[in-house]
Amino acid sequence: MSNIGSYEKRLSDFDWGQARETLGWKDGELLNIGAMCSDRICAEGHGERTALIWEGFGNKSGKYTFDDLRLYSNGFAQFLKDQGIKPGDRVCIFMDKIPSLYFSFLGILKLGAIAQPLFSAFGDESLEVRLASAGTKAILTTKKHVKKVRKIRERLPELETIVVVEGNPSKLRDDEVFFDVEEAPKVDVFDVYKSTPETPSVLHYTSGTTGQPKGALHVHSSVWGQALTTSWVLDLKPDDVYWCTADPGWVTGTSYGIIGPWSLGVTQCVLDSGFTSRRWYQFIQDNRVTVWYSAPTAIRALMKDGDEVVKEFDLSSLRFLASVGEPLNAEAVIWSGEVFNGLQFHDTFWQTETGAMMITNYPGMEIRPGSMGMPFPGITACVLDLKTHEPLTEPGKVGLIAFRPGWPSMFRQYWKKPDIYRSKFVGASDDAMPDQLRTDTSLWYVSGDRASIDKDGYYWFVGRDDDVINTGGHLVGPFEIESALVEHPAVAEAAAIGKPDEVNMEVVKAFVTLKPGFEPSDDLELEIMNFIRKRLSPLAMPQEIEYMDKLPKTRSGKIVRRYLKALEWGEDVGDLSGLDDD
Ligand code: WT7
Repeated sequence: MSNIGSYEKRLSDFDWGQARETLGWKDGELLNIGAMCSDRICAEGHGERTALIWEGFGNKSGKYTFDDLRLYSNGFAQFLKDQGIKPGDRVCIFMDKIPSLYFSFLGILKLGAIAQPLFSAFGDESLEVRLASAGTKAILTTKKHVKKVRKIRERLPELETIVVVEGNPSKLRDDEVFFDVEEAPKVDVFDVYKSTPETPSVLHYTSGTTGQPKGALHVHSSVWGQALTTSWVLDLKPDDVYWCTADPGWVTGTSYGIIGPWSLGVTQCVLDSGFTSRRWYQFIQDNRVTVWYSAPTAIRALMKDGDEVVKEFDLSSLRFLASVGEPLNAEAVIWSGEVFNGLQFHDTFWQTETGAMMITNYPGMEIRPGSMGMPFPGITACVLDLKTHEPLTEPGKVGLIAFRPGWPSMFRQYWKKPDIYRSKFVGASDDAMPDQLRTDTSLWYVSGDRASIDKDGYYWFVGRDDDVINTGGHLVGPFEIESALVEHPAVAEAAAIGKPDEVNMEVVKAFVTLKPGFEPSDDLELEIMNFIRKRLSPLAMPQEIEYMDKLPKTRSGKIVRRYLKALEWGEDVGDLSGLDDD
């Protein structure tokens, strides 16, 4: 029997109180995700249960119980407190998927500080922009990545503490501290910060069309939404072995790679090594993985490697598969059913801002391959007319996916950007503050995606409503790439768009004009690509650079990415002369 039972019944008698009940939380009690995912599980008598099965590069591995989680998160919390970190301070986690990432995440939350996880493949510029925006006070990193922090440190006056975890303490600078939680004296008791449901917990940076990335701020009560969706959608039960393939630098890796499963006391696996189909299947086989949450790009890459590889492994432990991050094409759903003992990937739709799943396919529900499924019980969703912003009632009509505010895991603000937060709500008054917006159920929160709803209520994704590039399930902002491109000495002007790609859905393509004295060449193209890879990340690196004499612009001189994208995708370009600035 699945945890959700009947979807229809859950819809009819839904109340978020069921989430609080699932977690055994009562009004007025302390609510702290760090404690909930470790101390609470131990207090319920499951301290000896395995919490984390970890495998890294070079055959490194580790196994940790919930009691280890409790002790090591206490260790990080106490250490950071001794370093002068206070509740509300932003503490960045900048490391590969090593065990300390998971321990420190819970430790930061136990201390009442705000965890700011960043993808370890980010280059110094991507890192700097996000640390400067958040006014980050401390960063936890490793030897491998600390060089990038050193490069930008001088420009970040608010960054007081640099901690290097694991490895050996040699060759650190005087202003860096070393801390290996597994070697340090155990901290059996830590006085967990008295956080309430509205205390800030996690700050995730996400990209938009304009401007630099914005920090979506979450709070401790996000766990209600994350735990309930983990239970009802991923169907996790105490004896499951769960694998979420996402990196906690992105929201899937925290909401469903840390908080959801551990708040329910479920064992999870982490694989921190490069992708190959065989390595992944081996991991499932060795650890007897039962529930697997992954992304369309990975599924397409597995599919490309073929059915024969799958047959080399015993994957009979698998019982439920789900996917998120980008459109899951029907072929991938059908293929998974054919090769994984009849199990099809269940698509789920949500965002950094929503904190938890919003539209999903449920255990027991008929999957319509290519559809994202239906809204989670407790979520009021619709599609809004593209122009009037009125809810559409006609099946099949394309509109903007929108949600009524007020679900527990909804982001509470964009860090220090109230105007951008307000702009995400249809019907908001000009002076509405974030706290009013997030509770006003007469408004619609607009996701920035287009979809249609069929006559039976299934949602079908159409595309994004903006210029953000989705490559392999990771959002990349064109503005961030363009800003970095024009820092290259040869580049005068630049535009970045997504170009279709068989596996990654989109990859970055850049159009540039050169400064006088520079000539287009293949060498220069490579040089510019590498420049972006190092400064931003491999994800943001253009796979192709096209030299232009001039870029298409509006009358007032704004570059029109839409035009370049239409050309690239072979769509109708339209009349450029009529382009306005909006
Ligand atoms: C954007 C959010 C939420 C986890 C990871 C991404 C796209 C997400 C789907 C899906 C089609 C999807 C949307 C969305 N997206 N899930 N099932 N089908 N598109 O979080 O980085 O905030 O990205 O990813 O465009 O707005 P994110």
